Amino acid sequence: MMSDFIPAYQERTEMALSQYLPSVGSAPHRLHQAMTYSVLNGGKRIRSLLVYAVGIMLGAPSETLDAPAAAVEMIHSYSLIHDDLPAMDNDDLRRGKLTCHKAFDEATAILAGDALQAHAFSVLAANDALTEKQRVRMLIILTEACGSFGMAGGQAIDLESVGKTLKLAELENMHRLKTGALIRASVLLGAVAGNADAKTFEILTQFAELIGLAFQIQDDILDVEGDTALLGKQSGADQALNKPTYPSMLGLKASKDKMQQVYQEALNSLKQLDVNTEWLSELAAYMVVRDK
Ligand code: IPE
Ligand code: IPE
Ligand code: MG
Ligand code: MG
Ligand code: MG
Repeated sequence: MMSDFIPAYQERTEMALSQYLPSVGSAPHRLHQAMTYSVLNGGKRIRSLLVYAVGIMLGAPSETLDAPAAAVEMIHSYSLIHDDLPAMDNDDLRRGKLTCHKAFDEATAILAGDALQAHAFSVLAANDALTEKQRVRMLIILTEACGSFGMAGGQAIDLESVGKTLKLAELENMHRLKTGALIRASVLLGAVAGNADAKTFEILTQFAELIGLAFQIQDDILDVEGDTALLGKQSGADQALNKPTYPSMLGLKASKDKMQQVYQEALNSLKQLDVNTEWLSELAAYMVVRDK
């Protein structure tokens, strides 16, 4: 039977985000409205759930995890705002609503992304529920995951790969960076909060890299097979933009097999841990068995 971990901690994420976002009542109003619009709009909260599942599994109190959980979701929302811009994927629909630049304007969307990124680091750095040492480690993990050797680097590769045929290793590397890096960081923030030992850290890193890849393969599959209304974003967008994806390179059937294989490897890696991985396994399933 499924626990109520996912809905309960999605709810907790909403509360943490509402608490940590700058108030829409403070100036500049339009910028703060755009930030709130793009964060509090029904994401699945997979990255914050990873922070909570890993942290709690290792004994960290939930209160110590709210700031890192909110920070990763703010970073993720920033990455989506910029990903949707005309200069990138040029999408009109996100989480079932108009994208930030459509609901507001391009300049505001760029700034909302910029400000969310900076705010996320500030929320994390100021979290006195954690030690200064933990906070510095978390900041290093999260900043590296966002930069040119992480998400931003992966997005650059994504853009320069349009219309090209990549080798499978190159496609995997692009996915590892553009999506995998932040998922990995989410898991590792939980591990830092729970004072994981070196061995646990290593196993969790392995798990995170595998589930991150499985997650982006499923995202590629849903772009082909998913329903726009359910997804809350335009399906078929990758093909329309000539993006290299798992289905475009391997076909749907082989992509699904690959996704299943990587997912099973992720679950197997958790068997090496001697703590209760029930919530984390449930979350891993939620990340790949999904239609939105
Ligand atoms: C979508 O991520 C973008 C990718 C990195 C594939 P999610 O599927 O986690 O998006 P939300 O947060 O639930 O909207
Ligand atoms: C987005 O990948 C990755 C980041 C936002 C960093 P996609 O471009 O595939 O995400 P969707 O499909 O628009 O959500
Ligand atoms: Mg993209
Ligand atoms: Mg996109
Ligand atoms: Mg996609």
